[in-house]
Amino acid sequence: MTDHDAPFAECPHSAQDVDLFGPGAPEQWYNAYDVLHREAPVLCLPGEGLTPDQDAYILTKYEDISRVVKNWERFPPTLSLLVKQIEVAGKLPQEMPDLDAMIISICSLRPTPELWRTHRQELTDPWVGPGASRHEEMITGHVDHLIDGWVHRDSVDFIKQFARPLPQRTMASILGFPLEDIAQLEIWGNAQVMSYVHGCGHNNKLTDAQTREKFRLLSGFGEYVRAKTLEKRAAPQDDMISFLTQVRYEALDRKLTDEEINGIVYAMVIGGLETTQYAIAEQAQLICERPGLFQRLKNDRSLIRIFIEEGMRLRSPTQGLSTRITSRDERFQGVDVPAGSTLHLRWGAANIDPDAFEDAKQLKLDRKAATRHLAFSAGPRVCPGAGLSRLEQTIAWNRLFDRLDDISYGADNDFLHQPGIMLGTLKLNLNITKA
Ligand code: HEM
Repeated sequence: MTDHDAPFAECPHSAQDVDLFGPGAPEQWYNAYDVLHREAPVLCLPGEGLTPDQDAYILTKYEDISRVVKNWERFPPTLSLLVKQIEVAGKLPQEMPDLDAMIISICSLRPTPELWRTHRQELTDPWVGPGASRHEEMITGHVDHLIDGWVHRDSVDFIKQFARPLPQRTMASILGFPLEDIAQLEIWGNAQVMSYVHGCGHNNKLTDAQTREKFRLLSGFGEYVRAKTLEKRAAPQDDMISFLTQVRYEALDRKLTDEEINGIVYAMVIGGLETTQYAIAEQAQLICERPGLFQRLKNDRSLIRIFIEEGMRLRSPTQGLSTRITSRDERFQGVDVPAGSTLHLRWGAANIDPDAFEDAKQLKLDRKAATRHLAFSAGPRVCPGAGLSRLEQTIAWNRLFDRLDDISYGADNDFLHQPGIMLGTLKLNLNITKA
């Protein structure tokens, strides 16, 4: 998948060999995408839809995925079925087992596409979207603090000592959590993303035992957020939770409840940690694999913007998600897809689709419209944290180029990846030369 030899898992030669979800699958993802683009750009997973008599389809073409994400009505989020079910059942989502805080708050704050947009504009944009620029100084402080910890050495465990703690510290500062709580927040954060790592198949299904374990590990998180919310409601500070306790949500013409704030915080933690970690870790590998790239970027910082976009395009952190369904019969690349089918959107493949990008597998620092990739998705549900992640990545690389003269692969890297649907390199040792 990268420029290294895949250490295990068979390289797929035809569409029948492709398995994007089994053990070792991430090591072959990029070989599999070549096969799928060539032979089966729309791959049916029989009986793997919402019910056993429905199918799921893996979409790998840029054209198809952008069409899907931009049209909510024809391709509604799978979640909207759940929201409808809850409305019809007349039950309070709080009474339903296995629903997390984020889903509960979606039911009350943004059940429709219009409210989804308002939610983003009024509640998250000022903190993690376009308004993220207010965090520049705070993020620079965290970046420098982390680099201080290892810059005097010859090597660094880049994920453990930089790429992972940076988004953890940033998110804690934004939400208004003390940095001392990060160890506990990491345990809760890992529980939240459990299905994306240990879940089975295209829709990340956890077994009943895993679901129980997830909720066991998560216990205390809701209480923690509620306690912080209470504190901040009484004495607001300059942080996102304080803001959420005070803001009037215009769409509903009222303030948010503690439970709703809990749901928004849950979404920030689930979305805001690993994704940015993976982006930065992949960018470091792209640099190590291209002699001269470190110097080129160090000497011309205006290229960092395109570099990070190309990094996310070539090695997309979120490789695929089964989050849409077809509301009517559809046809993709000549393949009929009946109404009610589940769509697995394979962002990682769409982003290297040769029909969408010239020299699709090359990192090109002069690429036109470099943000056209779908790493953050697009349309009404586009990632609300893209602004923050881009800022973190930009500051991280600017300061790394300021403080280092070079990086290269260190010892003991096996370049293996975690299971699931995220592109997560497990370990990355780098040799460094201090500036
Ligand atoms: C490189 C970093 C990131 C990548 C690649 C990424 C990617 C994505 C993708 C592909 C989606 C699905 C959108 C869809 O279904 O159409 C998504 C949704 C989401 N992302 Fe991100 N994301 C990143 C960083 C962040 C950050 C920093 C935050 C929070 C501060 C965040 C919060 C969310 C949330 C809450 C959602 C769910 C949608 C919603 O609630 O509105 N993400 N992201």
